[in-house]
Amino acid sequence: MKSISIGLLGLGTVGTGVVQIIKNHQDKLMHQVGCPVEIKKILVQNVHKKRPVEIDPKILTSSADEILLDQDIDVIIEVMGGIDATKDYLITALRQGKHVVTANKDLMALHGSELLTVASEYGCDLFYEASVGGGIPILRGLVDGLASDRITQMMGIVNGTTNYILTKMSNEGRSYDEVLKEAQDLGFAEADPTSDVEGLDAARKMTILATLGFSMHIDLDDVQVKGISNVTEEDIRYGKKLGYTMKLIGYAHREGEKVEVSVAPTFLSNNHPLASVQNEYNAVYVYGEAVGETMFYGPGAGSLPTASAVVSDLVAVIKNLRIDVNGKSAVTPQYPKQLKEDSE
Ligand code: NAP
Ligand code: HSE
Repeated sequence: MKSISIGLLGLGTVGTGVVQIIKNHQDKLMHQVGCPVEIKKILVQNVHKKRPVEIDPKILTSSADEILLDQDIDVIIEVMGGIDATKDYLITALRQGKHVVTANKDLMALHGSELLTVASEYGCDLFYEASVGGGIPILRGLVDGLASDRITQMMGIVNGTTNYILTKMSNEGRSYDEVLKEAQDLGFAEADPTSDVEGLDAARKMTILATLGFSMHIDLDDVQVKGISNVTEEDIRYGKKLGYTMKLIGYAHREGEKVEVSVAPTFLSNNHPLASVQNEYNAVYVYGEAVGETMFYGPGAGSLPTASAVVSDLVAVIKNLRIDVNGKSAVTPQYPKQLKEDSE
């Protein structure tokens, strides 16, 4: 039985999680897509670095072309980060007819429209669920789950690093610098954490959410952004005394054709549901004209949660390939086998 071959770009926090899920969930993946899934090659900067997962060193490479031009690779998973060079890699991959899954919100917020156009020209899928909300399936929730609705407002916490910092400063009275370092060590922060703490990462995610939610092009430059780097331990203490919790809040509102998107540190009353969202967790309220208020909640950063969204995108890509690798008709997802207790 032919397997689906993956080219993985990046083996850091998220890439390591992707390797683990593909290895440890083969049964589930096989069940979902009807064939084995195999990582054929992995792009890294340093092929000699010690890795936290067991990897055959022969599949590591520092040559992107070795992966992008490999005719046997069906799907590229991009979890290396970066913008310009990464965009070129993905365009090359799409032009080679390879489907792409990415966790890269920087790239999607800036060049998503161009990349999606190339993908469509070459008949390829380009999925990016992990770019917003880590492990929360919020993009599918917006695009599929709320497909019939008219979304008017979204509000929430979309950056795990800053929520981790604010939570620890507030609950444990720890210093900003100490907790930022901890968020970096835990793999929540971006390679350059400036984009987290200055609100740019959240702004990029709000751009993606607003573009999909409101079905209109939203320019990152139009988002008003303020981060948490100037928030002091004193600010947090005073707020706390008065019954308020500080959170970095992303907000997107549409009225007719007018759209407003912003990111800013905000004091929320302690009984506001977003005030109790702790650590690296994210939560987003989405208001639809028909559905009313819905809330998406879950781990917004980290290795396995983010990889879960990435590999779920991979499953969607493979299902869309609509090929049965045995040469028969389309792959049909099977119902799970009945549990023993159920059948008794
Ligand atoms: P990371 O830990 O810094 O890992 C990056 C990986 O990419 C490393 O393996 C690195 O190689 C490789 N790499 C970077 N630049 C490269 C280049 N120019 N050529 C070849 N290899 C290169 O990053 P991460 O935290 O996994 O994040 C990856 C992506 O996922 C980013 O777009 C990030 O925004 C997004 N994301 C991250 C999270 C999270 O919780 N961390 C959540 C959602 C989305 P070496 O290992 O050899 O250095
Ligand atoms: N640095 C990001 C965050 C990773 O902290 O939310 C998840 O996108």
